[in-house]
Order: sequence, then structure tokens, then C-alpha cells
Amino acid sequence: MSAIKTISSTPFSDQKPGTSGLRKKVTVFQREHYLENFVQSIFDSLEGFTGETLVVGGDGRYYNDVAVHTILKMAAANGFGRVLVGQSGLLSTPAASCIIRKYNAFGGIILSASHNPGGPDGDFGIKYNIGNGGPAPEKYTEAMFQRSKEINTYKILDAENIDLNAQGRYTLGDMLVEVIDPVTDYAELMEELFDFPKLKSMFRSGSFSMCFDAMHAITGPYAKQILEEQLGAPEGTVINGVPLPDFGGGHPDPNLAYAKELVETMNGISAPDFGAASDGDGDRNMVLGKRFFVTPSDSLAIMAANAHRIKGYKKGITGIARSMPTSAAADRVAERLGINSFETPTGWKFFGNLLDAGQCTLCGEESFGTGSDHVREKDGLWAVLFWMNIIAERHQSVEEIVTEHWKSYGRNVYSRHDYDAVDATVAGDIIDNLRSRFVSLMGHGFGAYCIEKADDFSYTDPIDKSVSKNQGIRILFTDGSRIIFRLSGTGTEGATVRIYLEKFEPNEALQNIDAQEALADLIDIAEELSGLKAKSGRSGPTVIT
Ligand code: G1P
Ligand code: ZN
Repeated sequence: MSAIKTISSTPFSDQKPGTSGLRKKVTVFQREHYLENFVQSIFDSLEGFTGETLVVGGDGRYYNDVAVHTILKMAAANGFGRVLVGQSGLLSTPAASCIIRKYNAFGGIILSASHNPGGPDGDFGIKYNIGNGGPAPEKYTEAMFQRSKEINTYKILDAENIDLNAQGRYTLGDMLVEVIDPVTDYAELMEELFDFPKLKSMFRSGSFSMCFDAMHAITGPYAKQILEEQLGAPEGTVINGVPLPDFGGGHPDPNLAYAKELVETMNGISAPDFGAASDGDGDRNMVLGKRFFVTPSDSLAIMAANAHRIKGYKKGITGIARSMPTSAAADRVAERLGINSFETPTGWKFFGNLLDAGQCTLCGEESFGTGSDHVREKDGLWAVLFWMNIIAERHQSVEEIVTEHWKSYGRNVYSRHDYDAVDATVAGDIIDNLRSRFVSLMGHGFGAYCIEKADDFSYTDPIDKSVSKNQGIRILFTDGSRIIFRLSGTGTEGATVRIYLEKFEPNEALQNIDAQEALADLIDIAEELSGLKAKSGRSGPTVIT
């Protein structure tokens, strides 16, 4: 019998979960008792899990293996009855969500810092998902944080590590550990939603080619199995398909700046028809056509407008939810379809209640996140399969599909400018300063633009009526254009200031314009309003998407 040890510890003051769980440098997680304190704080803020099932897995980044063993021993010591863990401790975020739901687990712990770099000097993260498979809502994360500030002991089983490299059933104290294939359940779900025979014949006929960049992150094994093995895409369709603890030194964020190899391929003369990438933990996606970029906001709108063509969504969609900074392109689709549309704060956790209540079917964020009610996380590979299925049904190129959409609905020209690692005090002051000027800004004109309203976005959840305040500074112009200022809740170095810019272009003749060009005036206004460049000493954004 392995003994349960109760270890004394002192609280850390910085274990406040952000937009998506607790994210810190690996070196912070390596501090003695740091991980254990937070895991115990999670368990202490939950009730009724004795004998229940917990799902555990992560994106394979540096420290994933160490953390998984610790969590298994702590789950056993705290009374869980069973843990389902992905082989080698791996599970993508959407697969973890799928498994929690499929096996009616009590919840899950996912180890990931998403798109942040990994390795000994990189980032690590831990997040808790509840029984619906989705990120723990704020009332949970707040309870975890409160607990972390007073915790003085944690419980852990004194036992050897079990072998996670082989699938099978093991025991750890009184707890059963099932090491499962990380891909199978997820692949089965994808097969239910999409027309696999049609996708297969599209590859077989040679009428369609694609490149999927797994960025040396978790979707490698998922994409290889689904795209190459099940759908018959030629070997080599998946690039950077082997997950590495440091993502090969890259930044596993699927955007135009970081998915370099894919972007070069898609800009080349012999570009395939379709390009896609996913992030560190597999929940984000970027989709590209030949020399053509689809903004995530447009992607959500186009997926919604075409959902009726897709096997799993033929019965119709009930509504579309988007985060506040995401463009309003999806709202236009919802309006035409006569279905619900919701504007939530940034972060996937705000979609959970709406999905559970059947109020919406599709959700999306401008930050390369799209998903549906099939799980309770955003889902990278799902979005890629959704797009492949649209292409298979419409027999058109990505560019044709997008430009036809603009023609029909108008184009919400959109861009996000990120300023990374800004001095936190400077960033805080910029936001506070904007916040203090809401009243004086109303009615203020800038050339052709006039501010109709300025506020700090606040959200009341339509289902549980919980209120989330201070979710981003909105500068709303009379013509529907918007500038949003927000501080990132996922960064680990200084502050990341995000500026979101949006302008509606109904005129077809003007729609094929470069977004930065179309938004040039708004970009200038953003600087005039915030003084961000001047105050932070930057000449421009770190990343433009
Ligand atoms: C970022 C994105 C947000 C997303 C989150 C987790 O959060 O902007 O949309 O939900 O990562 O992937 P932020 O750093 O802006 O707080
Ligand atoms: Zn992610």
C-alpha cells in the first residue's frame, strides 16, 4: 500500500489564473511546491469528486512529463477513483474536452501554455476544465486563487511513477489509471461531424492538395492520423508533425508571423489549394488559400454561413457567439439566418454556458479560435476539417469562397496589433488614461470618423447572470468602425497591449484591399488616443494579425 503524505507548504501570492488557466515561466513552476500548491488549490475548491474520474494530459511541452506524474499522485491522494491520461501524458486541449464529455468525467487538468513558447526557459501552464469539458468559469478560478493564498499543506501519494508510454490500466494507491490513445476518441468524433468519404475522394482524385503545419506541437499525431492515414492525404501533407518539448525553438502560434514555413509554402508559385496550422495545444487554427489569408473573424462567419452543408450541422445552428474584439462579420450571418448572436468577453470560458443551454452552436475569437458545441473548447483541427468540407461541397477555392462571402454580406476589414512585453506600469497607465476620458471622447471627431461611444466592456452572462467587468476599452465610431484596447491575460512577460481595429466595407469594388491600408486612418487614431508607441518607445507592433 502506498502511503498518502501530507506535505507542509507556504502559499504563493501569484497563482491567479488568467484568460486560460495559470501560465508562468517553467522556472516558476519548477519552484518547490509551486505546482503542487496550485493543484491542491484546484482540488480544494472542488466538491464531490471522491471516486470520480479525472482526465489528465498536456501539449507535451517541457515539464509536461514531470507535472503529469505529480498530478496523478495528488489525484490518488485526494480521492479520485480513476484518471484517464493520454499516452506519454499527451492530450490536445480539444481532445481533453472530448474525452471529459464522452466518459462523463468529473473534470480534467490540461497542461499547456497554448501558443506560448516552450522549453526550459519557455512557458508552462495548467488549467482546470469542468464536467462539461470546458474551461472552469470565473467563479471556480477565483476560488482556486483564493485557496492558493492560504494553502499550507498538500496531499500526495508516496509511489513510483507509472509507465505512461504504454497504453493500459495501472493502479496508483486506490486509484485506477488508464493510459489511453490520445487520438482515437477525438478522431471518432470528427468522423461523426464531417463527410470523411467525400474528403477521402477529394484527396484520391488529386483535385485537392493541402499543407498542415503542426508547428512541432500537439496536433502532429492528430493530423497525421486523421489527414494522412484516415483521409488518405499524401505523406508529407503534415509538416513539423513531431511534437517537441520546445516546439523546435519556434513560437507555436498559427499566425502569419510565426507559421513561417507554411506561409512561405502558401505564397509560393506551386502552393497547394489549402493551408492550415494549429497551435501548441491544438485549439487554435489558421486557414489559408493560395496566396490568401483568411482572418479568423471572417472564418467564423463563413463557417456559420456554410454550416448547413456540413454533415454534423445539417439540422441547423441555433446561434453564433463571438468574443467582443472579434469582428462583427459573424453577427451579419446570424442576422440573415435569423439565429441568436452573442458578444462575450475574451476567453473560451464565456462560451460554455451558452453552448450548454443550446443558445449557440458555433463560437469564435479573432485570436485564431473557432469551435462548436461538439466539445467545450476551441478546436484547431476541427476548424480545418470544417473548411476542407466546405471546399469539398462548394468546389471553389478558399479565395473564391471568402470574396463571395464579402460580396454577399459586406466585408468587416479587420486587424489586431500586438505590442508585447511593454512595461506593465506604462501599459496599465495607458488603459487607465483611456478609461478616465470616456465622457470627453464622446462626439469627438477625427477626420471622417466621429466617436459615438467609449466604454469598458462589461458582460452579463445571459444564463447564470454573472457579471464580468473591465473586459476591454471600446471606442465605437458612428459609422460602426471600432478600436478596442485590451491587456492580454495570457502573457508572462511585462504586459501585452492589444489593439483591435475594424471597419465595415459594403462596397464590393473596395473590398479587395490590404487590411492595413484600409485601416490606416484608424491605426493613426489609435495612436493619437493612446500614445502607445510614444509611451512605450516602440516604433510599431510586435505582431500584426
Ligand atoms: C488570448 C486571446 C484569447 C484566447 C486566449 C487563449 O488571450 O486573445 O482570445 O481566448 O489567448 O487562447 P489574451 O492574451 O488576449 O488574454
Ligand atoms: Zn491554444
